[in-house]
Parts: sequence; structure tokens; C-alpha cells
Amino acid sequence: HPPEPCVIVIFGAAGDLTKRLLLPALYNLKQSNLLPPEFAIIGVAHTPMSQDDFRSKLAQDIRQFATIPVDVNVWQPLEQKLYYLAGEFNSDDTYHRLQDLLTQVDQDCGTKGNYLFYLATGSNFFGDIITQLGAAGLVREDKDHWRRVIIEKPFGHDLDSARALNKSIGAVLQEKQIYRIDHYLGKETVQNILVFRFGNGLFEPIWNREHIDHVQITVAETVGVEGRGNFYEGTGTVRDMVQNHLFQLLAMIAMEPPISFSADEVRDEKSKLLKSIIPLTAEDVQQFAVRGQYAAGMVKDTQVPAYRAEPRVASDSTTETYAALKLNIDNWRWAGVPFYLRTGKRLAKRVTEIAIQFKQVPSLLFRQTSIARLTPNFLTIRIQPQEGIHLQFGAKVPGPAMAMDAVKMGFCYTDYFGTIPSTGYETLLYDCMIGDATLFQRADNVELGWRVVTPILEAWTTTSPENFPNYVSGSWGPSAADDLLVRDGRQWHKTDL
Ligand code: BG6
Repeated sequence: HPPEPCVIVIFGAAGDLTKRLLLPALYNLKQSNLLPPEFAIIGVAHTPMSQDDFRSKLAQDIRQFATIPVDVNVWQPLEQKLYYLAGEFNSDDTYHRLQDLLTQVDQDCGTKGNYLFYLATGSNFFGDIITQLGAAGLVREDKDHWRRVIIEKPFGHDLDSARALNKSIGAVLQEKQIYRIDHYLGKETVQNILVFRFGNGLFEPIWNREHIDHVQITVAETVGVEGRGNFYEGTGTVRDMVQNHLFQLLAMIAMEPPISFSADEVRDEKSKLLKSIIPLTAEDVQQFAVRGQYAAGMVKDTQVPAYRAEPRVASDSTTETYAALKLNIDNWRWAGVPFYLRTGKRLAKRVTEIAIQFKQVPSLLFRQTSIARLTPNFLTIRIQPQEGIHLQFGAKVPGPAMAMDAVKMGFCYTDYFGTIPSTGYETLLYDCMIGDATLFQRADNVELGWRVVTPILEAWTTTSPENFPNYVSGSWGPSAADDLLVRDGRQWHKTDL
């Protein structure tokens, strides 16, 4: 069903996020009839531009960034609903003019005073914009009007700053008005983790320490820092990827079944899971946290520079572009089952995968026979690309001798559902318009993530990394990350990609 009438106000409407992701997502929603008939978009940015200029700019952008062919019969009615306001984010005047424009749009488009404010700006503007929206009375809800705000990471820099940010936003907005995006939760395959676990009877009974040996989560990227050297220098992989995306995957894979699929029940379970991760002490960090930084190398047949040679990166930078962790979860389901997480830039392949290794059989019946290869059962959930789920098990190799090898049973999304042309933001925008916060992070989820990574970041600032850069671009990361598993008699699962 289309949501209730509403206006989406995008702060940062002249920027990258808007043209690359939000606009194509809104177009896809329109195409699927998932925008309300009474609808409008107001772009706010400091770039001086007339409303007509804004409409022509977006008309060009959609042609460049749409994920499906653009149909003018879908685009034109949407284009007619685009409004623009040029203004500084920290000036009262902008918000007075915004108030007037909203009143006019409500009259013209029948949007009934329901507003979604999307802060597609740098996080340094969040505080100012939200305070100003509050002062102008634009986020005051009543029983006939809803007001919601979407923000996207970074939510702070460490535990203290995340708490301070939540507190300052909380002074203006109620928690139920705040929608914190983690774009991984917009991915179909990530949402499917919950369906896979809780919509099927087969796996849940064995989803525990009795049957699972360990879990690996890999988010490997081939890209480097893509011109974002300045941002990345102050951020690094743990803040950019682990605290948010990897922990969301971890929570989805490991949390207890919620009692319903309502936003708070799901987020309660995520928080419980994050709370049961045993934080690493400074000593543990030496053993169980590996950091890496890429040297020059070949990625997909192209020579790429070292991180330290990227624009706006210090030539002696100690920022990590790779991280691997071994974490333990202290609860009844997972006690004693290690979770190995790794992510990095400029790795051999782009792949996001969760590999669950099941325990070996208790007694090796085939010990006396000529076993070709006795491999453990692995369940692999491929988040991207070539999305799917694969189960590896042993099968007898044909022939008179008793030999065994690993084979795979697989499900690929494309075989059943065709390609998924979405940006990942469709579900998130739609959910926010209908007031469903299940796929958004609550304040406590964010803080609990910081609780785990902050001691690691602190330990790393007090010691210099050894041998940076310590992995060649196009490899699978530093050898210390392999040692992390080898020490436990295990190894990283090799992707089939
Ligand atoms: C972003 C990070 O949140 O996620 C980027 O800031 C990273 O550094 C990106 O490249 C990865 O997202 P995806 O959807 O390409 O896996």
C-alpha cells in the first residue's frame, strides 16, 4: 500500500547521495506505486539554483543513475512534485522560508503536514539542522501529523561522542522520530537472513554451539578510498565498516528469535546480542584484532597505488584499511563459538559473505578408506554479488574405492527472482514513510557497537602498527589475519567467486 500523504525534505539535495541513491530509489518507488498520490519532495542545499534548474538537474541525474530504464510517464509526474530551497543549514532564515514553503506545498499537493526530513549532509551538520528544525517547530508531532528524521552514519566517532550525539538529538526528537540508516539493512539479502533463519524450520534447531563450530563474516572490497582520503584518514575501517555494517550482519546471524517482527522487538534482540559480545581488553587486542593497510599492487589487472600514496593521505599514515577480529559471544547459544570478522579495501575480490562452519561428525567412519578430502559442512550466505545461499557437504566420489569429496547445493537469487534492480534505499524510504523502524538502528544499538570497538581503537592509538603497509593490493589481506584462524586450527573460507 502507498504510505500516507507526505513531503520528503532532503537536506543536501545538490549532493552525491541524492543523485546516486535517493533519487533512483524514489523513482523506483514511484514506478512500483509505492509513493502516496499526495506527495512532494523539497530539496534544500546551499547551491543557488531556481526551482526549474533543480528540476532539470534531477531530470538529468535520473537518466544517469536510474537502476531501471526511465519511463517519462513515471518521471514527469514526479518531476512536477520537486521543489527547491537554497539556504544555509545553520541560518534561521532558511527554516522560516522552509516553513512557508511546506505550508504552500501542503496546500498545493495535499500532503497534510506529514514531513520526512532526510539529512543527506555531512554528519557535522546533523546537530545544527535538527536544532533548527526543532526551534522552527517543524518536528513537533501531533495525532494528525507525523514528523520523522533520517540520518546516516557516522553516528559519532567513539562511544562518548555517539552518546553525546544521541543526547543532543534526543533533546529535540523522540526516539521514535529518529531513523538511523545502515544501508546494509536495505539490502534484500541481508533482510533475507531473518527469513532464512526464522521462516524455515530446518536450520534454527542446529543454530547453536552444539552444532556450529564457528562463523566467519567477510566484507571484502576491491575499491580503495576513492578520493575520500581526507575522510578516511580520520576514520579507518573499524569505524567505517565494522561498528556498523559488520555488526549488523553479526546481529542478524546470531541474535535470538524476536517475539514479533515489530521494530522494538527486533532491535531489543540486536541489542542483547551486541551486549553479549565480550569486549577485548588491551591485551586481547594484540592477539585477536588485526589491522592492515594496503600497499601498491594489482587489483583486477590494474596497477593501483598504496594507501599512503592516495590523495590527501599522510605518507606515514597509520590508518587501517583492513581489520580482522575474533569475537566471542557470552550467551547460552554461542558460548565457545568464535565469530571471525574481516573487512578491507583493495582486496582480491568484492564479496560479502557469511560462512557458517558446522562441527565435524563425531566419529570418522571412513577413516580406513581412501578419503579424497574430508571437508566440514559449510553454509554460505552470499550477500553480494551473485546473491545466494550454498550448502557444502561431503559426497562419495563415484568408483569402486570409498572416496569422498566436498560438493555444493546452491540457491541463486537470479534463478528465482531475476536481477534485483534496487538501490537498497527503496525499502528504507518506504519503511520510514509508513513508520516502520525495524530496519533502522536505535540509539542503544549504535552505542553498543561503539562499546565493542572503542577499546580496540584506543589500544591501536597507543601502539604503532607493525610493518604498515602490510598487505599488497589485490591480496586477501595481511598474513596476521590468516594466523588468527590458523592458531585455532581453522582457515578463512575461500569464496567460489
Ligand atoms: C560505506 C563505506 O558505508 O559502505 C564505504 O563508507 C564502503 O567505505 C561502502 O565502500 C560499502 O558498501 P557496499 O554496499 O558497496 O558494500
